[in-house]
Amino acid sequence: MTDTPAVVLERVSKSYGDAGHAVTALSDVSLQVPASQFLSIMGPSGSGKSTLLNLIAGLDTPTHGRVIVGGQELTHLSDDACSDLRLRHIGFVFQSFNLFPTFTAEENVAWPLGFVGLRWRAAKMRAAETLEQMGVDAAARSRLPAELSGGEQQRVAIARALVTEPRLVLGRTHRQPRFANRSGDPRRPPPIEHAAGADRHHGHPQHLRGDVRAANPRAARRPHRA
Ligand SMILES: Nc1ncnc2c1ncn2[C@@H]1O[C@H](COP(=O)(O)OP(=O)(O)OP(=O)(O)O)[C@@H](O)[C@H]1O
Ligand SMILES: [Mg+2]
Repeated sequence: MTDTPAVVLERVSKSYGDAGHAVTALSDVSLQVPASQFLSIMGPSGSGKSTLLNLIAGLDTPTHGRVIVGGQELTHLSDDACSDLRLRHIGFVFQSFNLFPTFTAEENVAWPLGFVGLRWRAAKMRAAETLEQMGVDAAARSRLPAELSGGEQQRVAIARALVTEPRLVLGRTHRQPRFANRSGDPRRPPPIEHAAGADRHHGHPQHLRGDVRAANPRAARRPHRA
């Protein structure tokens, strides 16, 4: 257990664009997410959910205010240190999963472990264990994302976010379909974004470099096989 909050936002504002045409996405937001908590952010389209998650992930910087993740103020970190924080301590589940189409399920999950110093063979073993925990069966693990069901793809994406045992997991839900209530009114539930802070501290290998955000399927290369 730790008393350090997973995430703290202090009077954070974020505007996009020039002064004359500025869009205020977030205005004076303060928030504290304790470790071991699960937080859902709900709101209409354009209300600033993605902006908030991008600031917590260190993918963007606030116009005003402070963002503190795992006790570290992001604005004080160099780009490299911020990349390290993302790689080691933050797991992402993207709205569209962002699985690499030419990698099998297992290779997709093993991929971030290459950046934390694991050999490819060990990475694949750990990936298989994580996929098993997520209920993805052995046959599915060796298939490409296009050969998996939507639910299997989702679980592969979650396994990839969890395999490095991050302290903080950030996720975006799929857009939810319209549904009709009993009186027949079409309603669209608001999109939801999630931040879950774990309180575990794991002995990750040190001296790593890399950036999960930089994942580009076209540029991604398979780690060297052990
Ligand atoms: N790069 C950008 N440049 C200018 N305005 C932006 C930019 N990104 C977002 N915005 C604006 O900031 C506001 C918040 O956008 P954001 O993407 O955070 O909303 P959201 O809550 O995630 O919406 P959705 O549910 O549709 O994904 C919107 O008005 C949006 O148009
Ligand atoms: Mg969004």
